[in-house]
Amino acid sequence: MSITRMVDLELRGKRVLIRQDLNVPIKDGKVTSDARILASLPTIQRALDDGAKVMIMSHLGRPTEGEYAEEFSLQPVADRLSELLTQTVRLEKDWLSGIKIQAGEAVLCENVRFNNGEKKNDRALGQQMAALCDIFVMDAFGTAHRAQASTHAVAEFAAIACVGPLLAGELDALSKALKSPGRPLLAVVGGSKVSTKLTVLESLSGLVDQLIVGGGIANTFIAAAGHCIGKSLVETDLIPEAKRLIAAATNTGSEIPVPVDVVCAKEFSESAAATVKSVGDVQDDDLILDIGPDTAAYYAKLLTSAGTIIWNGPVGVFEIDQFGEGTKSLANAIADSSAFSIAGGGDTLAAIDKYGIGNKISYTSTGGGAFLEFLEGKTLSAVAILEQRSK
Ligand code: 3PG
Ligand code: MG
Repeated sequence: MSITRMVDLELRGKRVLIRQDLNVPIKDGKVTSDARILASLPTIQRALDDGAKVMIMSHLGRPTEGEYAEEFSLQPVADRLSELLTQTVRLEKDWLSGIKIQAGEAVLCENVRFNNGEKKNDRALGQQMAALCDIFVMDAFGTAHRAQASTHAVAEFAAIACVGPLLAGELDALSKALKSPGRPLLAVVGGSKVSTKLTVLESLSGLVDQLIVGGGIANTFIAAAGHCIGKSLVETDLIPEAKRLIAAATNTGSEIPVPVDVVCAKEFSESAAATVKSVGDVQDDDLILDIGPDTAAYYAKLLTSAGTIIWNGPVGVFEIDQFGEGTKSLANAIADSSAFSIAGGGDTLAAIDKYGIGNKISYTSTGGGAFLEFLEGKTLSAVAILEQRSK
């Protein structure tokens, strides 16, 4: 990779704008899993130690652009960062027109996605961000597949644009791990973001020997197999696509298993009663919120005999204990498997935290969608612009 690296630049006294992925789960104003913050910390610490004026940007969730909403504020992240750095990290709400900052200080800019034009990679917005700094550091691996103003346009216009240590490390580690993976290669792709992932599944299904789908994605496959999915999260228009993927996998001797049993509830809430059902018994008023124990046992068996495991996304609503058993058994099977395991994604990191298996995963990536795209062999948009700027 021929990209200018932050670690090779003189940062003293410079205004350094770092794009991190601090998109972490938050509940009641507190960060519930700080894995992504911890991963970003060495970059921030390094810039501070080098005497830079450190400005940090991140997105949080998917708010409506142009509207401030407290639930998407980065204040809890600023609080956690302050604790971890043992120095105050001020949250700057109004930062686009300029930030007052001293060398050795760190400031967190409020959610970039509150700005109009962020998602469509608005050039004028990127120019405003670029004007804040002498050096732009792209370090958000988890968001490197998005061409947005804070990951792409800003890099186009900043005086100097470089790659941060976290992003550089991720790219190096993942390329090495995926060069010649041990077989069978198994991918677990779950989570609630369905359509963004179904396209990824398309290319993944050509690479892997087994593909386990979970969460909202699995519902689309369950429907494709002809079962009732009740009121579950699903993307009806993608059912033909799911059917095609199942058929294609069968033809090439790979496998996309469909759950044989599921955990259902009549409502989505923390106190909802969980009922295990055979996949053929789901009622019109049911919500599928997890895989059932027989399915989990079968998946665990596949994981045990895998050579390489790629894990992105929980297979159920694991944040609620009664819908977390499927994700828990998968997590434990991955932890116990002798396969080289690579896990990534915000929710996945939170699940790894919850089940305490962090030290049993071979490589933990901060990226979810980004690492799946990397795996597909795509050049990540934010990396492409850095390459261009480094010529
Ligand atoms: C993630 O958690 O997947 C990344 O932070 C990217 O978020 P996004 O999918 O909302 O762009
Ligand atoms: Mg994601």
